[in-house]
Amino acid sequence: MGKFYVTTPIYYVNDKPHIGHSYTTILADVLSRYHRIFGDEVYFLTGTDEHGQKVQKAAEHNGISPQQQCDATVPRYIELWKKLGITNDDFIRTTEARHKAVVRAILSDLHSRGLIYKADYKGRYCVPCERFFTDKDLDDRKLCPECGRPTDEIVESNYFFKMSQYQDWLIEHIGSHPKFIQPDFRRNETLGFLRKKLDDLCISRPRRRLSWGIELPFDPDYVCYVWFDALINYISAIGYTADAAKFAKWWPASYHLIGKDILTTHTVYWPIMLKAMNVDMPECIFAHGWWLSGSDKMSKSLGNAVNPMDMIDRYGVDPFRYFLMAEMVLGGDASFTEAAFITKYNSDLANDLGNLLSRVVKMIAKNRDSAIPAPGALAEDDKALVSACLSAAEQVRSAVEDMKLDKGIAAILAAVRHANRYFENSAPWKLAKGNDPGRLDTVLYCGAEALRIISGLLSPVMPGKMRELRKSLGMAPEEGLGMEELSKWGMLKPGTKIEDINSLFPRIEVKEKLVDKKHKDEPPADNLVTIDEFGKLKLRTAKVLSAEKVEGADKLLRLQIEIGSEKRQIVAGVAKFYTPEQMTGRTIVVVSNLKPAKIRGIESNGMLLAAKAGGDLKLITVEGEIPSGADVG
Ligand code: ME8
Ligand code: MG
Repeated sequence: MGKFYVTTPIYYVNDKPHIGHSYTTILADVLSRYHRIFGDEVYFLTGTDEHGQKVQKAAEHNGISPQQQCDATVPRYIELWKKLGITNDDFIRTTEARHKAVVRAILSDLHSRGLIYKADYKGRYCVPCERFFTDKDLDDRKLCPECGRPTDEIVESNYFFKMSQYQDWLIEHIGSHPKFIQPDFRRNETLGFLRKKLDDLCISRPRRRLSWGIELPFDPDYVCYVWFDALINYISAIGYTADAAKFAKWWPASYHLIGKDILTTHTVYWPIMLKAMNVDMPECIFAHGWWLSGSDKMSKSLGNAVNPMDMIDRYGVDPFRYFLMAEMVLGGDASFTEAAFITKYNSDLANDLGNLLSRVVKMIAKNRDSAIPAPGALAEDDKALVSACLSAAEQVRSAVEDMKLDKGIAAILAAVRHANRYFENSAPWKLAKGNDPGRLDTVLYCGAEALRIISGLLSPVMPGKMRELRKSLGMAPEEGLGMEELSKWGMLKPGTKIEDINSLFPRIEVKEKLVDKKHKDEPPADNLVTIDEFGKLKLRTAKVLSAEKVEGADKLLRLQIEIGSEKRQIVAGVAKFYTPEQMTGRTIVVVSNLKPAKIRGIESNGMLLAAKAGGDLKLITVEGEIPSGADVG
């Protein structure tokens, strides 16, 4: 049994939470729940970042005090986490006395050891990011390198933390601990950042410019820089300088989960702060990618931020959690659209999982008086189902350990689909009419047992729905939620009464206006192609140099086209819709890496794209000017 200490960023209280905040917090929750199933002792921390200019400005804007701003916003986070079923062990607020005391203790210690000193400072400041930059960080336009917004110039006396002297140590630590920053490409990003010489970190703000912060213990005219204050939450919450036993129990953190926006503060400032304090390094800082709205960055200013409350109210908590976890490849970006949500819900949950449950439960209700029958000896098909389920359990374990949750979930869904196929092939509805009741018993038992394992494996992702599912299998709420039980076949007790439940995941009927055409016509999730598969198709723009009719074939035109510097001939079935004259000179789109074929004896080297509907055909062309040979995709 190990220990697992996981943290989320502490969120700013300048505004209400959005889907990105929900994502990181649900991710931490799902990991925590898996680790509890694995038998680890878990401590899960989240909270709010309440000091600094951002919050002060929001308060000014709202005409209230900063403390009121915090007290009004914090409940929105707490309420959302409650709704989302978040099982955090603590919720830290940086305005709490327990946190402020630790920050002051650390500041005093570093100051007394000469690691914090006073100096004049000239630089530029980005208010939204709460970050200082020196001229060498900026180009002529003086835009913030993090967010691209304008920075303000400031000159003042301030306190500095001797960060620069730890640069070589940090590079060494990162290099010798490959798990320290994950995914790998983020580690490279940090190492890239560390190729420039590190400055010392300005950790104070003059009170006259910013009053909303923790007062420096050695100079009441200054408050502490919000990031220096905020990062300390990860140790103040577990008793650093206050509760030695608790701190020793949980530190170092197993994972600091963050978004990629706050990589530098977590992989440069924070490790160096800890080093200066002589505290051990966290095991892993994991930066996930960005939820986009369609293909755009989700942001308040673009007005496209998805409100998690709306999604929960409309579709329920568990499907929302499921989508966020199944859809994002950890580390990369992912796109959130309601249409994609509905497609995935209908395919994975309503269709695959919901269907499996309702088949199993209905067949047992109808043919075995709602009691799980005892299985006979297992046939080949049954054994294949057993190994599909047990292999899902194994894959989930390694997916969680490797931070590849989407892969783990995909493995569970593969077991669901296997079980559905198993049911179809075994056709219990036919067995029910035949004369081999023992075989029917076995098939029904196997179906129910597969559901026991599958629902257990999915319970960290959809705790509420899986509890319902397990209840319908006659199981108590927390029964059998351990990796041992989930990695073993045959735990359901024959004779257990099952309960029919109304459809666990009712299909979402798609309202036309909600789902754009692209998604409406999308094949079910099983037939989806990956970006890599799509990438195999080389779509290119091509210019039609000349066109002519093909003798004896009234549908075909023979086209000479140009794809960049290359010339080719293709044969296309467009003669009923376009004359050779109409084709010539156009820029069209072709599949350029199609195997050559002979059409009516004429070599065709590629295929053009056209849209067809109701007997009509229109070429896919390019809007505006673009040279031939351009990539399309
Ligand atoms: O940065 N996609 O707080 P914050 C995915 N207080 N995740 C997103 C996201 C998106 N579109 N938008 C936000 C702060 N997040 C500091 C942190 S920690 C000591 C201090 C998530 O309210 C993601 O986890 O701006 C990101 O890192 C975090 O919210 C930023 O939240
Ligand atoms: Mg932010």
